[in-house]
Amino acid sequence: MARTPASSDKMRPMSNPNSSSTVVQASLTIWWETMPTSLAALPASLVAGHESPRSMRPEPGCWSSLWRARCQLGIPDADPQTQILRWRRPDGIPGPSARILWEVNCDVSSDSDPLARLDALPRLPLLPSVTPFYRLDGMSERHHFEVYIKRDDLTGVGAGGNKARKLEYLLADAKAKGHQSVVSGGGVQSNHAAMTAVCSKRVGMDCYLALVESVPVSSVFYDEGANVSLDRLCGASITRFKSEKPTDAYIIDLVASLARSRGEQPYLIPVGGSSAIGALGYVRAALEFAQQEQSAGPIDTIVVACGSAGTQAGLLVGLAMAGLSTKVIGISVSHTDLRDTIIRLCQELAGLLGLKATDWADRVVLDHRFVGEGYGLPSSQTWESIQSLIGSDAVICDPVYTGKALTGLLDYLEGDRGILGAGVTFWHTGGITGLFGYSDRIQAAVDMRVS
Ligand SMILES: Cc1ncc(COP(=O)(O)O)c(C=O)c1O
Repeated sequence: MARTPASSDKMRPMSNPNSSSTVVQASLTIWWETMPTSLAALPASLVAGHESPRSMRPEPGCWSSLWRARCQLGIPDADPQTQILRWRRPDGIPGPSARILWEVNCDVSSDSDPLARLDALPRLPLLPSVTPFYRLDGMSERHHFEVYIKRDDLTGVGAGGNKARKLEYLLADAKAKGHQSVVSGGGVQSNHAAMTAVCSKRVGMDCYLALVESVPVSSVFYDEGANVSLDRLCGASITRFKSEKPTDAYIIDLVASLARSRGEQPYLIPVGGSSAIGALGYVRAALEFAQQEQSAGPIDTIVVACGSAGTQAGLLVGLAMAGLSTKVIGISVSHTDLRDTIIRLCQELAGLLGLKATDWADRVVLDHRFVGEGYGLPSSQTWESIQSLIGSDAVICDPVYTGKALTGLLDYLEGDRGILGAGVTFWHTGGITGLFGYSDRIQAAVDMRVS
């Protein structure tokens, strides 16, 4: 795959047919805590000196307590190398407690090909190489079915796992926009938070984390060990919260409080790194897979854990770009239905990459049957599946994400295998560090299986 050019390519100029000047197309997303009463007055006050947005429409956000408005901006006479969009929080902004959060993406011209566009987007290469892809011999023989594995637990940076791929794009975007720090978060044992801490350290950025006690699990291992130890080791600044609102709302609060107290403008990374920018990492991963799967038998299906939707959305778009019709079955790890989020992310990715209109809704397959009691709560079946894969192929899964995805895969293999087609890939997304947050439960899980 071609190397990514310098980050300044992010703002690519488009020629304006009506004038000789250059117009940079950008899209802006703004979030409010409450529904803004009047949007009409907003754009002019927000976007000083720029052409008014062409359209702005409010819509419910993916978080129940937030509202979002999106608009397209055409910025005439912009110098794409130096143009910085400056958002200010104006007085008199409509609606109480409006919080403006930037999310500015450039729309690049529609006639270039999607691969070129992907390569033109800023990326900080973190992965040293492609991740392994091979046949799971033990499981294939046990189930008389062709089962492959994509080892994104071995991404080769920090503790491994899927977040490294997202962070290649997120941190590059942050740097391209001039940020010196990032804010993100998740549950106490968030793999994403820990990987954000590791990778931001690697690229010389400060990292602030909102860790939310959203899982009813408490032990010395869970509260202070595993990923929390990693967060600390990487020097991340941690703020802990009780779970009274969606985790993303705490991340937003943290951004606002850093701006207030320190004048910092940190880059906001949403839960799981699942913005369209983050999901680009999985577009790229799907292209990597498309190369590797040529050496295998037919693979009709990928089974992957779905937590915040970015991985599944990126895979869907990347597979479409590669011209593959491989189905992606997302195994939900929480009771939140992320179907609409996946569709939205696919649409945003398609917009960024200039893909032709596609009915993404048709391609989204989500299976909610293996969540068990809820996010972060493994069932005895989860532990059993983990031990089963260790026994057949010496591959280790975690109890929050991949253990549940594996339970889903085993269920298909033992039951409705027709849905899998001729061969399946289990996409391992990592999470191994989080496993040790459950150290006190492991002996009981082993004993249960033995008895
Ligand atoms: C180990 C692991 N697997 C899978 C996922 C789910 O990926 P996504 O959030 O992109 O759906 C996550 C994070 O949420 C994770 O940490």
